[in-house]
Amino acid sequence: MTVIGTLAHAIQPLGTHEYILFALGICLLASYPIPYYLCLFAYNIYFHPLSKYPGPRIASATSWWLALPYVRGGLHKYLLKLHEQYGPVVRTSPNELSFINPAQWKEIYGHKPPGHLEFSKDEKYHSGIKGGPLILNADRHYHQYIRKLLIHGFSEKALREQEPVMQRYISVLFQKLQEISRNGTAPIDILSWYDFMTFDLVGFLTFGESFDCLTNSRLHKWIEVFFSFAKLLAFSQAIARLPFLVQTPLKLWAIPTSVKSDISTLQQLNTEKIKHRLEHESDVPDFMDKLIEAYKAGKMSFQQLTGNASTLISAGSETTATLLSGLTYLLLKNPRVLQILTNEVRGAFSHPDEITIARVNKCRYLLACIEEALRIYPPSPQPHHRIIPPGGAMVNGEYLPEGVSVAIPIYAASRSPYNWSQPDSFIPERWLGEDPQFSNDKRDASQPFSFGPRNCIGRNLAYVEMKIIVARLMWHFDIENATEGDWLDQKVYLIWEKAPLWVKLHPVQRS
Ligand code: HEM
Repeated sequence: MTVIGTLAHAIQPLGTHEYILFALGICLLASYPIPYYLCLFAYNIYFHPLSKYPGPRIASATSWWLALPYVRGGLHKYLLKLHEQYGPVVRTSPNELSFINPAQWKEIYGHKPPGHLEFSKDEKYHSGIKGGPLILNADRHYHQYIRKLLIHGFSEKALREQEPVMQRYISVLFQKLQEISRNGTAPIDILSWYDFMTFDLVGFLTFGESFDCLTNSRLHKWIEVFFSFAKLLAFSQAIARLPFLVQTPLKLWAIPTSVKSDISTLQQLNTEKIKHRLEHESDVPDFMDKLIEAYKAGKMSFQQLTGNASTLISAGSETTATLLSGLTYLLLKNPRVLQILTNEVRGAFSHPDEITIARVNKCRYLLACIEEALRIYPPSPQPHHRIIPPGGAMVNGEYLPEGVSVAIPIYAASRSPYNWSQPDSFIPERWLGEDPQFSNDKRDASQPFSFGPRNCIGRNLAYVEMKIIVARLMWHFDIENATEGDWLDQKVYLIWEKAPLWVKLHPVQRS
């Protein structure tokens, strides 16, 4: 059977994008000498410096192979399966290794001692990001500069001053939920409402004005465009794995005209919003203060200013809304956990005004529920690839030559039986450190915010926002599932492709 035949057989049934990938593969085979490919595949499998690492033969032979799970939205599950089959270290491409041991978080992503080089980000995973350098794709030096500017808006002090703004949006959210849930008779898509809330808050802290999603009860155009853009980035990542010659025609074919026009709409909206922010000082310390100073001092272009602003909005809103919806669903499916959490929240607070950052931080079970939801359903489930720097480096006790791409797939590390007992069960108790059943869990394997100098800058904000919203949900309502099927069975195109999450919210009767 030919290589293409084997591929086609292995992945039935195929979707349109996959047929196109194979068709291109066939064209390439036809236009290049077949012996060249055979020699290349043989070299990759048997003589390449990574040939001793376990993994599927086909993935060791060619990087095209992994493009398939990318376009099918199934990379997260595929990598988990590979680790179950081959162990904690897997060769996923000729030049790529995937790890799920917790120790590799520090080795790959951690701060490096003086004299050692950082493992830089693998450019092919940022091939869809234009403009810049921006916080997500800047080199080490410029990244440190942008991060230093941003850190002011994310400090403990800033968070304290931002709390009244956050509380204001959260109150509007619950006022709206009370209205539209009609005493629990009308099912509502709570995912949309989490999106409205998180986009409004991050919009305010970035552009100085919210997207008015909560008041209008619908998504702003900016956000709709962002969702199609995320899918485009996922396709760009798949295309970047293919031979250089086919990348441009494939991009032209794969990127629908509607997305192209969406991108220009996004750029236009960003420009308008940034101009608004430049004309209005913010009342609270926001994310943009110092970036604007840098722009005014000529140290950052207007394109970088808007690019970083959209990164903040997209990184800071959809992620939080995803976790909130995932946790809501997991609670609905686990009545025992829901009951314990409800008791904790209703016992701790006698009025919603008491649900403040300071007080919600004392709810241990709430935090355990959030950690467990982040483990089961990490909002950013993909591997974030890094490159071994010049001179090579040691990873997992072995020397790797420069240029090798290494990563920890967040979903696979946090769902693997190598790291967790009962990995697929939602058991917040494992985070409390009291139940001996879970004493062998490798809790530091779960790093949903990534690790090291390029980890999530919004982590503290995300935690308090999630804690307050979940506590208020438990305080105001008895929640009931109205979604059919397994809501968590989703594809990933950079972000989870989520269906509406239907719930009924019954106001709690208090005497
Ligand atoms: C549950 C919520 C969140 C999760 C799971 C999450 C996850 C992550 C992850 C995995 C990264 C690393 C990305 C990479 O290496 O390419 C990251 C980076 C980042 N996140 Fe978050 N995030 C969350 C919320 C937020 C919030 C609320 C904000 C801010 C408003 C934010 C802003 C950022 C920024 C700016 C970066 C880039 C940091 C850098 O490169 O230095 N995130 N986040």
